[in-house]
Amino acid sequence: MSKPHILMARAVFPEVIEKLSQVAQVHVNEDDTVWSQAELVARLQGKQGVFTTGGDRIDQAVLKACPELRICANMAVGYNNFDIPSMTAAGVVATNAPDVLTETTADLGFALLMGTARRLSESEHYLRAGRWTKWSFDMFAGSDIHGSTLGILGMGRIGQAIARRGALGFGMKVIYHNRSRLSQELEQQCQARLVSKSELLAQADHLVLVLPYTRESHHAIGAAELAQMKPTATLVNIARGGIVDDAALAQALKQRTIAAAGLDVFEEEPKVHPGLLEVPNVVLTPHIGSASIPTRKAMAHLAADNLVAFFTGKPLLTALNPDPRS
Ligand code: GLV
Repeated sequence: MSKPHILMARAVFPEVIEKLSQVAQVHVNEDDTVWSQAELVARLQGKQGVFTTGGDRIDQAVLKACPELRICANMAVGYNNFDIPSMTAAGVVATNAPDVLTETTADLGFALLMGTARRLSESEHYLRAGRWTKWSFDMFAGSDIHGSTLGILGMGRIGQAIARRGALGFGMKVIYHNRSRLSQELEQQCQARLVSKSELLAQADHLVLVLPYTRESHHAIGAAELAQMKPTATLVNIARGGIVDDAALAQALKQRTIAAAGLDVFEEEPKVHPGLLEVPNVVLTPHIGSASIPTRKAMAHLAADNLVAFFTGKPLLTALNPDPRS
């Protein structure tokens, strides 16, 4: 029987290509080009599988134009780039890469929280610009992390990992808001208390966003929500652009209605709202939440393992919709 064809939408570790080549004919993206939708569709012709990253959209139009496609494996835990109902209707399997990135992403969330509260980027730019000529009593004085109140919006696996870091490592008081309440056991492990969204906004000294991006969570933090936060508060977004209204945030940072923000994700990635680039009180990173080599390898292998499982008739590891083979 001839091997199935798999398209790699972006470049990835050679060992992952090797693994996939055992079961399929693999078509790589040598230059790691970000293809337009039209280019993606053109390259998907005659392919039964695709290895995607969070930036590659699989929507109804792509599915219609690629009738041979049977599985899309995302090398990301978030899958807002997939139109799951349309994929299910078309009998196309969707998989993501959860769990393997939880702790690494929580590390970055905490790094951003600390860097934001203690004004690391701002002070480093000042030093590099040669402006450091003397010590002064309030130079780059920020806010404390230890003993403060950590607010978490979205209490999934990554939210819980951040809560544990805050409560157990830094003696923070942890409050959270989520669609559903955690089990008593998990609340105890995270030492976290469920509150309403307005309580969360009003009480958090440091607010971390870790919720999935959906139609409902679009602009979950906009001007009205920012106005409810303490003027001394910091905001960290490691979830997805679009959860925060970047224009409203830039304005709040400029007017200092909140103290500072740490952002790993943006509404128009890789473009950053110009207002955010103009203000000093923001730490900006280019969507690197899961970016450690072991974790990126684990994510790539998990996506590849789903493809291998599919094409060798084995159960999928992390399916997001029903498996049409069963
Ligand atoms: C990264 O943003 C991911 O969803 O894995």
